[in-house]
Amino acid sequence: MEIKYQLKSASQRRSTPYQPTENIGFGRIRTDHMFVMDYADGQWQNPRVTSFGPLPISPGAMALHYGQSIFEGAKAFLHPNDEIYTFRLDKNIERLNTSASILCMPHVPAEMQKQAIEALIDVERLWFPRQEGACFYIRPFMFATEDNLSVRSANAYTYCVVISPSGAYYPDGNNSAIRLLVSKKYHRAVSGGTGAAKASGNYAASLRAATAAKEFGAAQVLYLDANNQQIEEAGAMNHFHVRKDGTLIIPTFTDTILKSITSQSVLALGEHLGCEIKQETIMIDDFIADVRSGEIVEAGGFGTAAVVSAVGEYIFEDNTIIQVADGQVGPVTKKLYQLYSDIQNGRCDDPYNWLTQI
Ligand code: PLP
Ligand code: COI
Repeated sequence: MEIKYQLKSASQRRSTPYQPTENIGFGRIRTDHMFVMDYADGQWQNPRVTSFGPLPISPGAMALHYGQSIFEGAKAFLHPNDEIYTFRLDKNIERLNTSASILCMPHVPAEMQKQAIEALIDVERLWFPRQEGACFYIRPFMFATEDNLSVRSANAYTYCVVISPSGAYYPDGNNSAIRLLVSKKYHRAVSGGTGAAKASGNYAASLRAATAAKEFGAAQVLYLDANNQQIEEAGAMNHFHVRKDGTLIIPTFTDTILKSITSQSVLALGEHLGCEIKQETIMIDDFIADVRSGEIVEAGGFGTAAVVSAVGEYIFEDNTIIQVADGQVGPVTKKLYQLYSDIQNGRCDDPYNWLTQI
């Protein structure tokens, strides 16, 4: 793929390393450029790195009406050698195409996605936020641009990548435990639906539940399956818990759960953590009983944005609260966060070659 570079003039783009003095938060900051590519006549065309700015879109674009729109979330890190490394980008690339299949959208060949993202990172090097714990949050996305009001899959799309220099997802970082609302009223996905896709509509559909979570003082919702029996996942994280014997358990991936790359990575790290890590179907009633009895000693969530976040308590829609152990970040969660962020940031060995230098 031959990428066209339509860069801002030297005086309009960043010329010194980005050294923010205030907490930059998550997903707020933009860099100078973006990658854009169009799909028409059955092929991807006009790949370009161009100024970050508005994209022209027809009011009849099918993404706006029927929600054919998907996205990914990946990260890149600055290592002590001053080089930037992407983390498991191949997995995000693969999952974008899984989402595309679920939403009846065209695939973006893996090599094209890789080249697009690497080209953009390369151009935006100076934007890497030189701040403790910060990273490049990479947001590839694809949406239907064909102007048509029929309900069918479109025949024109745009694939775009933007980068957001970002810090921690939760305002308190990863040092404190959050509260989740366990909802029997709201559901995220049903079997046969789009739960396993990173479909924009899944997130739009979660906003009502997220508003309820806020009213209960919770950071996110812990979704159950449509029959309110099994734990599925949280709004932007897979769920996990740790039993008294040290076993870490992640709910089995189904077609109603987003197959988290963080969860998949943690599953591979068991031997480095010295504990057993496995997947199981988790019944909510058993989970509650085990938290109450002290059989479950830690819980939390995994996600690219959230990394490894502890859950200290669960609130239910009748206002009952259950606390996990002392409600603080437990030792396994701490150790896992440390190991995971050490690998990502190049502070220790990368045992599975998950990092790629740009
Ligand atoms: N579940 C949902 C619904 C998400 O949006 C995310 C975030 O990407 C995750 C889980 C975690 O997935 P990953 O670890 O691949 O970021
Ligand atoms: C991520 O963790 O990358 C996500 O996409 C979660 C969220 C910000 C929607």
